[in-house]
Amino acid sequence: MSAPTPIFIFSILLLQLLFAWQPSAADGSQWQILQKSIGVSAMHVQLLRNDRVVVFDRTDFGPSNLLLPNRKCRNDSTDTALKVDCTAHSVEYDVFSNKFRALMVQSDVWCSSGAVMPDGNLVQTGGFNDGERRVRVFSPCSTCDWQEIPNGLAAKRWYATNHILPDGRQIIVGGRKQFNYEFVPKNIAANTFNLPFLAETNDKGVENNLYPFVFLNVDGNLFIFANNRAILLDYVNNKVVKTYPTIPGGDPRSYPSTGSAVLLPLKNLTAAAIQAEVLVCGGAPKGSYVEAIKGNFFEALNTCARITITDPNPQWVMETMPLARVMGDMILLPNGNVLLINGAGSGSAGWELGRNPVLSPVLYMPHNNIGSRFETQNPTTIPRMYHSTAALLRDGRVLVGGSNPHAFYNFTGVLFPTELSLEAFSPAYLDAKFDNLRPTIVAPKSMSRITYRKQYTIQVMITGGVAENLLFVTMFAPAFNTHSFSMNQRLLVLGNDKVTALGNSIYSIEVTMPGSGNLAPPGFYLLFVVHQDIPSQGIWMKLQ
Ligand SMILES: *[C@@H]1O[C@H](CO)[C@@H](O)[C@H](O)[C@H]1NC(C)=O
Ligand SMILES: *[C@@H]1O[C@H](CO)[C@@H](O)[C@H](O)[C@H]1NC(C)=O
Ligand SMILES: *[C@@H]1O[C@H](CO)[C@@H](O)[C@H](O)[C@H]1NC(C)=O
Repeated sequence: MSAPTPIFIFSILLLQLLFAWQPSAADGSQWQILQKSIGVSAMHVQLLRNDRVVVFDRTDFGPSNLLLPNRKCRNDSTDTALKVDCTAHSVEYDVFSNKFRALMVQSDVWCSSGAVMPDGNLVQTGGFNDGERRVRVFSPCSTCDWQEIPNGLAAKRWYATNHILPDGRQIIVGGRKQFNYEFVPKNIAANTFNLPFLAETNDKGVENNLYPFVFLNVDGNLFIFANNRAILLDYVNNKVVKTYPTIPGGDPRSYPSTGSAVLLPLKNLTAAAIQAEVLVCGGAPKGSYVEAIKGNFFEALNTCARITITDPNPQWVMETMPLARVMGDMILLPNGNVLLINGAGSGSAGWELGRNPVLSPVLYMPHNNIGSRFETQNPTTIPRMYHSTAALLRDGRVLVGGSNPHAFYNFTGVLFPTELSLEAFSPAYLDAKFDNLRPTIVAPKSMSRITYRKQYTIQVMITGGVAENLLFVTMFAPAFNTHSFSMNQRLLVLGNDKVTALGNSIYSIEVTMPGSGNLAPPGFYLLFVVHQDIPSQGIWMKLQ
């Protein structure tokens, strides 16, 4: 054996130094207020392919703090608060200019749902009162506004969940007193299909099955979680093909005992049997909603339950979070970690029913060993209670908005005033100390007409040298976020087929697109390059 080289010794010293210094990742996480007020509380948000976020609240609250432009007013004889309303209840927020403009929704979008179609249009459905059977379309353009289709839905949908399907349609699951699902656009006259599972999970007195957690499994079936358990649904034949066990403990995790859930990043996409895992975190113990109404605020659940939904004999594995959380959001980050953000430490979803805001996000690292997966992040100063939202942006920040736990816009004399602000949470990976690891995508600037199974080349610049086995490509489907759930959220880890150094810190990466619409439904994705856990900015990509 030859003597260690000076470089080797230097590397060891450097490693020891880094180890002794032990920068916790939480170190570098940061909060920034983007807008003190956008005039409208962000109850629902969706990022679109033009880097603008569509935001909307309910419309029957009385006036918001933002006037409609050009003295426009909405005349709505069915509105329960204002028959003539000259204020906006929706805005479009432009991420990179940090500006917003008022939009005009025609009918009540309160507690509605939606998803982006393969063409990039947001198709949003249901709501309350005159909005309960509406379908609304918002196209991503700088002058566009909401278009509405009366009676677009077969059934009233209030607190339903939408998901985009491999064939490009949306499925809409449940809603209050709706134990069924339907499709948009509809292709048959009788467009509702019974789903007894939603009746079975509808606890008497407290529904606990609203805004079900719906994920497209890699086999094309839908994983549907409500209350404390789940099924796998073959929606084409309206057949339950698998019943999952109840989460140990049996406490409810769906609205109003609102926890959250993600489909964990899909990996090893060329394997013969691709695995899919779901993680459900937080919620409120049984009885929380009823007790909170009486003034007893139970501590929220501090557990997560993880399950491999593709297993022949799937079982939940329990983990304990550093902080109990109800009404938290779970956001997939470009590097495959999960961010738990927003919410309360006790109480329940519902007007005035949450207590003890949880100001610190928590990072969950799914690939670490059990017991070392959670890491608490730096806190914000603004409680984000009922009706708060979060969404991943193209630059890797997480947009946070909303919080309105009252029936009106009350700013004083209440425990948690209505929040009209927008904040950004910057995970530690955005810290400048990681700049030498950070990939910058130099080509292409965006990707259109990307097809399944094909190989593409991406060029990145990385100044500090490359660890090839820690350099991979991911793709993220921007989600429709409301009531602590991100509908349609999905991250695929594409890995890399080959990395070639081109000189001048430029590397080309060959990457193969997913094999089918079951893995990744057609539409717009953000493509990221990740190096040693540090993600690039994303580029927009259209898969078809
Ligand atoms: C809405 O109502 C107001 C007040 O009644 C009226 O001045 C206005 O013309 C109406 N606008 C439309 C579009 O009907
Ligand atoms: C799956 O991918 C990981 C890296 O993401 C790798 O370590 C592992 O060996 C792969 N497993 C299989 C079965 O290919
Ligand atoms: C909020 O404000 C509305 C009207 O502005 C008022 O009627 C209501 O009582 C207030 N709610 C609370 C919880 O203070």
